[in-house]
Amino acid sequence: MEAFRITGGKPLHGKVRVSGTKNLISKLMVASTLSESESVFTNAPFHLGETEITHEIIHSLGATVKESEDGTMLVHTPKFSTSKVPEHFAMLNRIPILLIGPLLHRTGKADVPLPGGDKIGARPVDFHIEALKKMGAHVELKGHFYHCVTDGLRGQHIVLPFPSVGATENIIITAALASGTTIIENAAVEPEITELVKYLQKMGAIIELDTNRRIVIEGVSALHGAEHHVIPDRIEAASFACAAVASKGDVFIEEADQSAMLTFLNTMRRAGADFDILDGGIRFYYKGKLHAAAIETDVHPGFMTDWQQPWVLMMTQAEGLSVVHETVYENRFGYVKELQKMGAHIELYNSCLGGSECRFSTLANPHSAVIFGPSKLKGANIEIPDLRAGFVYLIAAALAQGESTITGIHHVLRGYEHIEQKLRGLGVEIERIEV
Ligand code: EPU
Repeated sequence: MEAFRITGGKPLHGKVRVSGTKNLISKLMVASTLSESESVFTNAPFHLGETEITHEIIHSLGATVKESEDGTMLVHTPKFSTSKVPEHFAMLNRIPILLIGPLLHRTGKADVPLPGGDKIGARPVDFHIEALKKMGAHVELKGHFYHCVTDGLRGQHIVLPFPSVGATENIIITAALASGTTIIENAAVEPEITELVKYLQKMGAIIELDTNRRIVIEGVSALHGAEHHVIPDRIEAASFACAAVASKGDVFIEEADQSAMLTFLNTMRRAGADFDILDGGIRFYYKGKLHAAAIETDVHPGFMTDWQQPWVLMMTQAEGLSVVHETVYENRFGYVKELQKMGAHIELYNSCLGGSECRFSTLANPHSAVIFGPSKLKGANIEIPDLRAGFVYLIAAALAQGESTITGIHHVLRGYEHIEQKLRGLGVEIERIEV
């Protein structure tokens, strides 16, 4: 089994360039299959586990994915060779469910396995399935598979119970080629969704981003290939930012984009961390004591749930008592146990702390954390349970006194491209070993 060995104790210094967004490239690849002509994605993060899985999934359906010499991705699906996503892609990531729309439009049927991804909550796909049914898909769940057929998909008025990113994307992708108009109320409005809409518009779609979380899609009869630039990953940028400050370091994050990170930047400043917005990126640095802070995760434009883990780690180095209330996933503090083992003082609570009541107030799930800082961390042998936890463990190990061995590294490789090289470039002593 592969593992990372990290010898910690030094601040992170230097420059790191963030890759294209993991949670956008896979959606662009799926959306490209709506058309029979080729699409081109610049700044595509090729060397990510998530991109590789998505590549294999669409390749199994007849798409070709190529990397040109300058690192650009070319995706071409002249026709679907099958309507079935093979079973071995079940539970790997969130992508198969998004292929129902393209498969139904182009073949009239779709057999897709249940989606997977990190174990951070129940992660049902009921909003996706309800919307697809309303639009004219007949969907049956048998074993691990959704079996879907249609005699034509039609625009509908869909009100999402929660602004789900994946469900919004699924409906947009499906509605782009459905007959008539689809209205999504309470839609997710993350920057990655705007990018998906921009790409689809280049392909020939008609999509309005209205006010108040309302998106209106007028179906068209065909879409053509298009070129799109994959925006820099704002989760990766925030992860390195917290790492820089938590280690009392100073890091210039090339490509970090202020507009997609406004809430994160305000929250950093309130906690006493500082940054300079420069041409081509953002410099983050420690400028003295960090203050405790209370935050709640939320859908965009709130504080992202995917920023929560590096933020918690940074707060272990702040003076006093910080609170984090996770309101997007009911079970996203699973990583805390190993941090406690490393010396972090963090307590978890089932109640909604520090702010308003959330959807999880009546569940027996620890979804609030209180962090008592600052804590001295010590090296440990730890296993990564999920992607964002993975990055946090690497950084915790980089802050800690002594050596850490970290297993389960495939989780972190799914979402952070060239992570070893990037950390090494910032002065972290990291090597890949067999254990
Ligand atoms: N939800 C439902 N029913 C549904 C869909 C969602 O109840 O049909 C609930 C979920 O259980 C969750 C909440 O709605 O409590 C939000 O889920 P959402 O659908 O927004 O998440 P997702 O599309 O599955 C994407 C990212 C996540 C990111 C979330 C929130 C991808 C591949 N994943 O997930 O990224 O945390 O949006 O922004 O885009 C990560 O990168 O580490 C990651 C987990």
